[in-house]
Amino acid sequence: MKFFIDTAEVNEIKTLARTGMVDGVTTNPTLIAKSGRKITEVIAEICDLVPGPISAEVTATEADAMITEGKKLAKIAKNVAVKVPLTVDGLICCKALRDQGTMVNVTLCFSAAQALLAAKAGATFISPFVGRLDDIGEDGMSLIADICTIYKAYPNLKTEVLVASVRHPMHVVAAAKLGAHVATVPPAILRQLYNHPLTDKGLAAFLADWAKTGQSIL
Ligand code: E4P
Repeated sequence: MKFFIDTAEVNEIKTLARTGMVDGVTTNPTLIAKSGRKITEVIAEICDLVPGPISAEVTATEADAMITEGKKLAKIAKNVAVKVPLTVDGLICCKALRDQGTMVNVTLCFSAAQALLAAKAGATFISPFVGRLDDIGEDGMSLIADICTIYKAYPNLKTEVLVASVRHPMHVVAAAKLGAHVATVPPAILRQLYNHPLTDKGLAAFLADWAKTGQSIL
């Protein structure tokens, strides 16, 4: 399973890239706004830091304008994946950009039917938002199960399932069990994935016993 980091904070990305766990980065207009930086500059810096797909979202809502924005974003670097919302215009834009060889991440997916349409439009990634479904009392992970089942039934569909709006480590584990290709996680959740209280307890005991030996490995 690939891990993408869901942030536009360049320093966070720099730090986490060192772990070797960062296969790509996703941004959205909210995350760019939070960074306080110009989208073209921040995406260019992220593309230099991480060789995997870096999602940059269009903000136009009409297909031709989306295509124009998408082409501009795609010119920033070879590893840009243009992000488009799951609307009729978004999927028209998806198909046009895919026909030119640009990676496209179709975002704001909340149903299996939408995911099927995105795959037919040739999306590189489909981003179902599990946390936002959970937030309204639905089961985000059952959407991932449905999409994985549908895509597996049609091997000609090459779209990767990119689990988005991840709220906690169990979302990542559940998505991995279902065979989702990618999870995009906020930096705090990537850090949480490392944690277990028995690891901390065990390490503290080992170090205390080691100190009693008076030895040094070096
Ligand atoms: C990723 O591509 C999405 O933009 C992101 O995961 C949304 O997460 P949120 O629901 O926490 O805003």
